[in-house]
Amino acid sequence: MDNFTFLNATKIIFGKSTEESVGREIKPFSSRVLLHYGKGSVKKSGLFDRICRALDKEGIQHVELGGVLPNPRLSLVREGIRICREKKLDFILAVGGGSVIDSAKAIAAGVPYSGDVWDFYMRKATIAAMLPVGVVLTIPAAGSESSNGSVITNEEGSLKRDAGSELMRPRFAIMNPELTFALPPYQTACGAADIMAHVMERYFTNARAVEFTDRLCEATLKTIISNVPRVLAEPRNYDARAEIMWAGTVAHNDLLSTGRVGDWGSHMIEHELSGIYDVAHGAGLAVVFPAWMKKVYAHDVARFAQFAQRVFNVEMTFEDPARTALEGIRRLEVFFHEIGLPVTLKELGVKDDRLSEMARKCTERGPVGNFVKLGREEVFEVYTLAM
Ligand code: NZQ
Ligand code: ZN
Repeated sequence: MDNFTFLNATKIIFGKSTEESVGREIKPFSSRVLLHYGKGSVKKSGLFDRICRALDKEGIQHVELGGVLPNPRLSLVREGIRICREKKLDFILAVGGGSVIDSAKAIAAGVPYSGDVWDFYMRKATIAAMLPVGVVLTIPAAGSESSNGSVITNEEGSLKRDAGSELMRPRFAIMNPELTFALPPYQTACGAADIMAHVMERYFTNARAVEFTDRLCEATLKTIISNVPRVLAEPRNYDARAEIMWAGTVAHNDLLSTGRVGDWGSHMIEHELSGIYDVAHGAGLAVVFPAWMKKVYAHDVARFAQFAQRVFNVEMTFEDPARTALEGIRRLEVFFHEIGLPVTLKELGVKDDRLSEMARKCTERGPVGNFVKLGREEVFEVYTLAM
C-alpha cells in the first residue's frame, strides 16, 4: 500500500427532505448567493421554488443563472464570473448534476482570479483562492459533489479539459434520493456507468497489497450492478436510489484511491468524445472502458481475472486466467447493454473519421494513464477497438 494523506472536507447531508436545510447551511458563509442550475429539470420538479423559499427564510439574497448544458460551457462560466463580480455575490449554490457543479466550481475559481479562468484548465495557472460552493445534488453520477475537480468545455476548439484543486471540494452536498426519482432511464444508466468508471479507474492499479480498497471497490461496483436494474424497473424505489446516490459519492471522494494510484486514461479518452460529439459522459465511458480493458488486460491478467471473479462472479479458470479476464470484460459490456447503454462508438452515433484527431488531442500533453501509459498510437487503437 502506498503512503497517503486523506482529507475530504465536504459535509454530506443525506436523506429525505434535506434540501429544506439549504439556507441554514449557507448562512455561515454568505448572504449573497449565485443560484446556478441547468436546463430546467429543477424548475419542472418544483425543487427550484423550494430552494428559493429556504433561502428567503434565512434572509439570503440570490441571483439566478440557469442554462448549464451537459458538458458545461466556458461561455456561461464567464457570464457567471461577470455576474458575481457585478452583484458582489460571494457564494455559488449548484442545484443539479456534475455539469452544474463543475460550472459552479469554475465560476467560484474565476471570480477572485485576475486572469482568464481557462488558464486553470490549460494548466497555465493554479487555483490560489475560490469562493465557497454548496451543492444540492439531483443526479448520482459525476461525484463532483465532493470531488476536487471540475471539467469544462471550451467551445473554441471543442476542448473539454479538467482542473483540480483541494479548494474545489464543495463546503456541503445535500443529497436527497427522492430528487432522483424523476431521472430519465438513460440518465440513470449514464450516471451508473460514470460511477462504475470512477471505481474501475481506481481498481486497475499497479499498487500491491491493497486488499481493503480492492474490496471497497468491488462492493461499490456490486451495489451499482444490483440496484440500477431495480430503479429502472421502479424509478421511485427510495432504498435503491439511496444506495446508488451514496455509492456515487464514495466512488469519487478519494476514499477508494487511498494507498493506490488509479489509471484515469479512459476518462481522458472519453473527454475527447464528449468534447467533440457532446455525448453524455457516462455513455462515452460505457463505450471507452471495455475497449480500454481489451487493450490493457494483458498488463496484469491476474487483476482482471480477480475483477471478473469478484465483481461479475465469473468462475476462475486457473489454467487460463486470460479467459476469465476476458469473460469479465464481456459481462461488463452485457451489463451496460442491459441498462440501455451503448458499448460501441457506432451505437453511440460516432463515425470513424475523427479518431486520429481525437487520439492526437488526447495525448497532446503526453501519454495518458498510470496503470498502463498510452501514447497517441495506443489511444488510437482504443478508439478503433471501440468502433
Ligand atoms: O439540465 P437539466 O434540465 O437539469 O437536466 C439534466 C441534464 O440534462 C438532467 N437531470 C439532472 N438531474 C435530473 C435531471 N433530469 C431529471 N431529473 C433530475 N433529477 O440530467 C442531464 C445530465 O446532467 P449532468 O449534470 O450533465 O450529468 P452528470 O452528473 O453526469 O455530469 C456530467 C458532467 O460531469 C463531468 C463530466 O465530464 C460531464 O461534463 N465530470 C465531472 C467530474 C468531477 N467534477 O469530479 C468527474 C467525472 O468524471 C466527470 O468527468
Ligand atoms: Zn467520470
